[in-house]
Amino acid sequence: MSACETLLEIRGMELRYGAAIAVRDISLRVARGQLVAVIGNNGAGKSSMVKGATGLVRPSAGKVLFRGEDTTALPAHSKAKRGLVMVPEGRRLFPDQTVEDNLILGAYVHGGLKHEKARASFDRVLALFPRLKERLRQQAGSMSGGEQQMLAIARGLMAGPELLIIDELSLGLAPRIVTQLIEVLAQLNREGLTIVLVEQLAAHALSIADHAYVVDNGAIGLSGPSAEIAANPQVMDAFLGKKAVAP
Ligand SMILES: Nc1ncnc2c1ncn2[C@@H]1O[C@H](COP(=O)(O)OP(=O)(O)OP(=O)(O)O)[C@@H](O)[C@H]1O
Ligand SMILES: [Mg+2]
Repeated sequence: MSACETLLEIRGMELRYGAAIAVRDISLRVARGQLVAVIGNNGAGKSSMVKGATGLVRPSAGKVLFRGEDTTALPAHSKAKRGLVMVPEGRRLFPDQTVEDNLILGAYVHGGLKHEKARASFDRVLALFPRLKERLRQQAGSMSGGEQQMLAIARGLMAGPELLIIDELSLGLAPRIVTQLIEVLAQLNREGLTIVLVEQLAAHALSIADHAYVVDNGAIGLSGPSAEIAANPQVMDAFLGKKAVAP
């Protein structure tokens, strides 16, 4: 495996909801081992791009390659099985089910906890998030927002991702919790997990990312090393308004 192996490549993606175009033309590349930030204003098309990449919505044009394979037409569960996993915006947990059941559902694409690998993942995510270990029997919907986001990430990890795409990590969370979660993601990335972090709160994502893409009106407005993007005044003014202030 070469150091710069491309894990995910999106080529010229267009995605429509009926007549409305949410993604006009997005191309991006994520190499194995990278942590990539995707930032941009409300309604820029970030979540739509993620849905197109992971197979929740079929793009109307363009290609999604995962590990070199054309996966454009594959449904989300087939992509998850190949290692392309997402933590959706708003978490989408099963609120009436326990923490443990939500985690087991995360391993569903691999047949649940039967697999030795899934049992190892279970132990690993509980070590990563001790709070969840204390709350295994608690209903997911009764937990705090931060705990629910931990569970959403942990559930994603249970699917055994090679690439984990996290859509709006910080949504509705206190800055202190966001900082903790960002540190967990940085740790996972150091351990080898490739991560795409989609965030409106640009400063947080840029602080740990290698590379960044700015989505503007359904297309990539700018891209480059995250330090360069963070220092670009155009990013602050044109794309992010006041949201780009440092954490
Ligand atoms: N299911 C849908 N049906 C119709 N239009 C949609 C649908 N989902 C999103 N859109 C539209 O597509 C555009 C892009 O939305 P999207 O959710 O991808 O943006 P976003 O960058 O993720 O925004 P945010 O930062 O608020 O999460 C918006 O104009 C939105 O109204
Ligand atoms: Mg979104």
